Amino acid sequence: MRRQMGMSSPSIHVHDTPAEAAAAVAAECAALIRLRAAEGRSTVLGLATGSTPLPFYAELIRLHRDDGLSFAGVTTFNLDEYLGLEPGHPESYAAFMAKHLFDHVDLGSDRTHLPPGQVEEGDLERVCGEYERSIVEAGGIDFQILGIGRTGHIGFNEPGSPRDSRTRRIDLDPVTRQDAAPAFGGLEHVPTHAITMGCGTILAARRVVLMAWGEKKAEIVREALEEDVTDRVSASFLQEHGNAAFFLDAGAASALTPGAA
Ligand code: F6R
Repeated sequence: MRRQMGMSSPSIHVHDTPAEAAAAVAAECAALIRLRAAEGRSTVLGLATGSTPLPFYAELIRLHRDDGLSFAGVTTFNLDEYLGLEPGHPESYAAFMAKHLFDHVDLGSDRTHLPPGQVEEGDLERVCGEYERSIVEAGGIDFQILGIGRTGHIGFNEPGSPRDSRTRRIDLDPVTRQDAAPAFGGLEHVPTHAITMGCGTILAARRVVLMAWGEKKAEIVREALEEDVTDRVSASFLQEHGNAAFFLDAGAASALTPGAA
């Protein structure tokens, strides 16, 4: 690790590479799962999709395969899902999670949860309320993984999302849709809406770890950590969470003011 900045919250951990940073996050997550299992307790993970958590999931799979890490007592809730994609669409977050984690570890399908991708308008409120209730019934989120969008979103909480927002439908920001366009083979194929946990849902997690890689995230990471808390950058709300951490590679940390944290 290159540097760990101050005693601030969020704590900031800068590593040379995404793989190193993700391994440190996976080690923390695995230790929590093992500690709670030893106490006969389950662990509730909040999970993200996108390119950022890929090295984290690869490391969890390695720990399962080579190091006996069991997910038998783990329950998961994903942050978000696109609305309107046909079931099984390769860019759906359900497909992503199966491919990059769920199919490779001992996590029963009854213990993995994502918001549904197909919901009638009139059913949205009920479905979103049920997602919130199922998190509470599972005991709340112990360890929440986040990436950050170039709009500053966590989950899909685009600019203007209130601090106390809960799971709901969201209009995806044009920047977010543009960033997703290559994966969908063109902007016209990118969904316009998603269901996302709210900022309030995320902030209720007992531990929150945001990862970011590369210079293209540097400026928004700086804004989230160094500017005032604002609903224009939903990741800035993490400044007010007592147990949040940013794990960054050198590129994502490159705009931070030295010594400011
Ligand atoms: C994904 C999610 C988003 C992403 C963010 C960064 O479930 O909620 O907030 O974490 O858009 O995406 P990547 O990692 O692809 O840069």
